[in-house]
Amino acid sequence: MIKFSASILAADFTRLESHAREALSGGADWLHIDVMDGHFVPNLTFGPLVVEALKPLAKETGALLDVHLMIENPQHYIADFARAGADMITVHVETFAHLHRIVQQIKEAGCMAGVTLNPATPLGTLEEILPYVDLVLIMSVNPGFGGQNYIPASTNKIKRLKTMLDAIQSQAWLEVDGGIKSENIKEVVEAGANVIVAGSAIFGKARPVADNIAILKKEIA
Ligand code: DX5
Ligand code: ZN
Repeated sequence: MIKFSASILAADFTRLESHAREALSGGADWLHIDVMDGHFVPNLTFGPLVVEALKPLAKETGALLDVHLMIENPQHYIADFARAGADMITVHVETFAHLHRIVQQIKEAGCMAGVTLNPATPLGTLEEILPYVDLVLIMSVNPGFGGQNYIPASTNKIKRLKTMLDAIQSQAWLEVDGGIKSENIKEVVEAGANVIVAGSAIFGKARPVADNIAILKKEIA
């Protein structure tokens, strides 16, 4: 079963709760929350307060809050995001040398633990941590902004990660984030992804959110 994680980075912030609610009632399963610090990535977004603000909606709907940390020194913020109500916390391998330690820290805080890597970072950097994680996220754009184009080489990276996960009989989610649209979602799912992050393709203004999600789902039906 493919999960859809709606990236609120593309939502209308003047009515974040109702726009996120539209995504969940329109067929999204999780809310993807992109935390950016202006250091690891050249953009600033939100912190634990936004996670906390969305927690009642998540509880009401059963949605999972999928927090993607694009920040340096993530170890200093795990407790804050866990307290705010994050269900999944995903950290970048490039931001912290002690990946095993931070994965334990996330689990001890009561959350599921995810790891991710930039498009130019080799999959080998994750090999040793794979048995311990609940999710691996392949970035299919350079992190920092919504609305970018999918990097075609990501498809091969997804396939190679799927092979690595299967080899250790891992049940971890394989999530893909960046530039996913109706034109390429099938390719991403066929490569092995089972969690699709979409921002502009879900919250794009051309159509109602539920129609946008239906269009994505139709491609992989
Ligand atoms: C990029 C973020 C993505 C982004 C995806 O740094 O991690 O989650 O919101 O947006 P789209 O789907 O518009 O590429
Ligand atoms: Zn993201």
